[in-house]
Amino acid sequence: MTTFAYPFLRNNFLALLLHVLAFAFLASARPATFLQDFRVTWSDSHIRQIEGGRTIQLVLDQNSGCGFASKGQYLFGRVSMQIKLIPGDSAGTVTAFYMNSNTDTVRDELDFEFLGNRSGQPYTVQTNVYAHGKGDREQRVNLWFDPAAAFHTYTIHWNHQHVVFYIDEVPIRVYKNNEARGVPYPKFQPMGVYSTLWEADDWATRGGIEKIDWSKAPFYAFMRNFELDGCIVPGPSTCPSNLANWWEGAAYQQLNPVEARRYRWVRMNHMIYDYCNDKSRYPVTPPECVAGI
Ligand SMILES: *[C@@H]1O[C@H](CO)[C@@H](O)[C@H](O)[C@H]1NC(C)=O
Repeated sequence: MTTFAYPFLRNNFLALLLHVLAFAFLASARPATFLQDFRVTWSDSHIRQIEGGRTIQLVLDQNSGCGFASKGQYLFGRVSMQIKLIPGDSAGTVTAFYMNSNTDTVRDELDFEFLGNRSGQPYTVQTNVYAHGKGDREQRVNLWFDPAAAFHTYTIHWNHQHVVFYIDEVPIRVYKNNEARGVPYPKFQPMGVYSTLWEADDWATRGGIEKIDWSKAPFYAFMRNFELDGCIVPGPSTCPSNLANWWEGAAYQQLNPVEARRYRWVRMNHMIYDYCNDKSRYPVTPPECVAGI
């Protein structure tokens, strides 16, 4: 037994106890893995575990797309995964990473959707927020890097104050808790974490003008380094409202100055659609847009 890690402790028994506690803590804080934390929801044959199960390969061909979901559901927290999208001609394909309450009528949902494009044209990332069954809050940004050349980290941070969508360290969307102004906010229902790859060439690329080129199939997207941090449901009922959870911390109640600057940069240089500014869909500006972003 090593006691040198706790030199201030004379008592070997206490040192052992500390070891056990430290190990138990680390064990519960382990990174999520596909095998332990996810299940296939659609087309087992199109989901492959590679690199010893550390990386997941999603396959889309003319027979099927595929999808997987977390075994658990979460109420507040931070979820992320690294994704490498379909390279080359990915027009008509959609890769998604999202949280969903899986309740039909009062659905809560937080979406990242990656809309493919013809070779050399930029991928578009569409985000959407459903709260209490109401969605139609699409925003779109063009990516400032090639998301098929390397893995990038996509994160949804969800607490009592706001939902923030990040790409790497860059916030691309903030949905604030504006309940005080009568805007619904997702906070009652736990959500599962989902990822899917499918064909949507009736709308995905340039509004459906660009069709999928099946001669390029099969199409592959890759996911790895899953992080699932949050109040698992069912679990301790006091967890979701516990403001001591790290994802509720002071650092996460609003964007810090560096994040706020990056967010402005995205909105000025890469945003190509914002429902808030779409007068044909919303002659009256939605209240959350008026309340500020
Ligand atoms: C695809 O590329 C075109 C041309 O650059 C661009 O207008 C469009 O926003 C891109 N994304 C999608 C999903 O159509």
